[in-house]
Amino acid sequence: MGNLILNTILSRSSIRAYQDEKLCEGELEFLKKAALASPTAMNRQEQRFIFVTSDEKRERLEQAIVEGVIASGNEAFIERMRSRGGKVTYNAPLVVIICAKPSHFAPVDAGIAVENIAIAAKSIGLGSVILGMPASAFNRPGAEEVKREFGFPEGYEFQIAISVGRSAASKEPHTWDESHVIDL
Ligand SMILES: Cc1cc2nc3c(=O)[nH]c(=O)nc-3n(C[C@H](O)[C@H](O)[C@H](O)COP(=O)(O)O)c2cc1C
Repeated sequence: MGNLILNTILSRSSIRAYQDEKLCEGELEFLKKAALASPTAMNRQEQRFIFVTSDEKRERLEQAIVEGVIASGNEAFIERMRSRGGKVTYNAPLVVIICAKPSHFAPVDAGIAVENIAIAAKSIGLGSVILGMPASAFNRPGAEEVKREFGFPEGYEFQIAISVGRSAASKEPHTWDESHVIDL
């Protein structure tokens, strides 16, 4: 028993291995609704949700991110990618890229939306992992072509992404420190 929403929030964790099975139209529609229902500052709704499901685009995305991470020369990033088997989207059948017009609240809006998607996915038995790493593909010099390839509207920038699919591994949710809440 207990509260269904809270149980979903408490049991979500980052999944980094997925079954080789596509999501059905109903699941995709459900996740699109969860994304679009996210609140945005001043209700501007200036973010766009790019649902990448085709094999060709998913492979291309993975390749562009890996190239971007290597080109960044950021050893910590490169090592983290290596430690995860050289994978950045983990062969998930769906990657949602959230892009937005740069603004003060764009990263906050995107963070809210990506968590909406993660919780919605969990609520229908899907796994997910939020991805900051794809920034390496879209924020590097000369990335305009890659952004066009992935349908970014003119002037939009990468904010965050999320892989979603049927889990092929389990992971305990992270632990936390109660003292991080300050009661006044
Ligand atoms: C903004 C943000 C960016 C993240 N980027 C990545 C990423 O690029 N790759 C990855 O495997 N996990 C990424 N994560 C997942 C975190 O590592 C994960 O949420 C954290 O370790 C807590 O674990 P949990 O989600 O299982 O509770 C990201 C999470 C957030 C919130």
